[in-house]
Amino acid sequence: MYSSGFIKMDEESFEKLSTFITQQYGIKLPPAKKSMLESRLNKKIRNLGYNGYKPFLAYIFGREGKVKELPHIVDLITTNKTDFFREPAHFDHLTQDFLPHYVSNNRHRPLRIWSAACSSGKEPYTILITLEEFRKATGPLAYSILASDINTRVLQSAYQGVYNHEQIDMLPDHLKRAYFLKSKDPGSSLVRIKPEYRKKIIYKRINLVHEYDMPYSMNFDVIFCRNVLIYFDKATQEKVINRLAKHLRPGGLLFLGHSESTMGMKVPFEQVKPTIYRHIP
Ligand SMILES: C[S@@+](CC[C@H](N)C(=O)[O-])C[C@H]1O[C@@H](n2cnc3c(N)ncnc32)[C@H](O)[C@@H]1O
Repeated sequence: MYSSGFIKMDEESFEKLSTFITQQYGIKLPPAKKSMLESRLNKKIRNLGYNGYKPFLAYIFGREGKVKELPHIVDLITTNKTDFFREPAHFDHLTQDFLPHYVSNNRHRPLRIWSAACSSGKEPYTILITLEEFRKATGPLAYSILASDINTRVLQSAYQGVYNHEQIDMLPDHLKRAYFLKSKDPGSSLVRIKPEYRKKIIYKRINLVHEYDMPYSMNFDVIFCRNVLIYFDKATQEKVINRLAKHLRPGGLLFLGHSESTMGMKVPFEQVKPTIYRHIP
């Protein structure tokens, strides 16, 4: 059974799928998102050999599909837009404000940073570059970076650290030279994060809307949770932020995305600057 055309989604299937995605991953899918869902799932349905949503859903929610396909449906639905040095004021704040203060007070323990919706890795690698540049300028700095996302496809690409050279165009030449390797194939436009930096980041699939375990009993000094809360409703955002607070040291920083804030929420944070918050338990 193989269909090559576009497969329309019936209302009942949309209801079932959108309810599942919202309950599992927090991502809101109002009726206006139906055509987005249709276009993102079309290829998957055809590749599995179905010609309609009802048999497709029966499979993914059934015994075999639940294990093989259902956990990865979210990979087709998330929006993963990201960039190196996206919202650069955050990295300036780390370099000029947070890090000088941190090293003068905490030399005895490594700094821990979590990029909590890391997409394809540009955010954790930007954090790494910021820390390395600070270390080169000022002296020893031990640190660890955890990068997590719900989408296994982007996590895999973050782990590989391979990008098209256009994606690092905005970086100054000295940073390109210091942190990236060109492909050995002269016809290729790919660059790769140098292995000694790539292996400094730990990757883990973490769903921010449900209880999760940290890889170690970890308390972070800084959490980046940027441009993901916008996909959740307000109550879920508040729950997610309160859960992040449990993994952040008192006085630690939380960075949110440019259109996100804690306004109107009962959360243990005070604002330092727009989109930068300090944990005050
Ligand atoms: C727009 S990207 C933001 C990437 C990066 N933080 C930045 O600001 O450039 C949003 C990311 O959130 C992830 N995401 C969506 N829902 C999530 C959830 N429930 N738990 C963890 N990550 C989630 C998506 O897979 C996607 O990679």
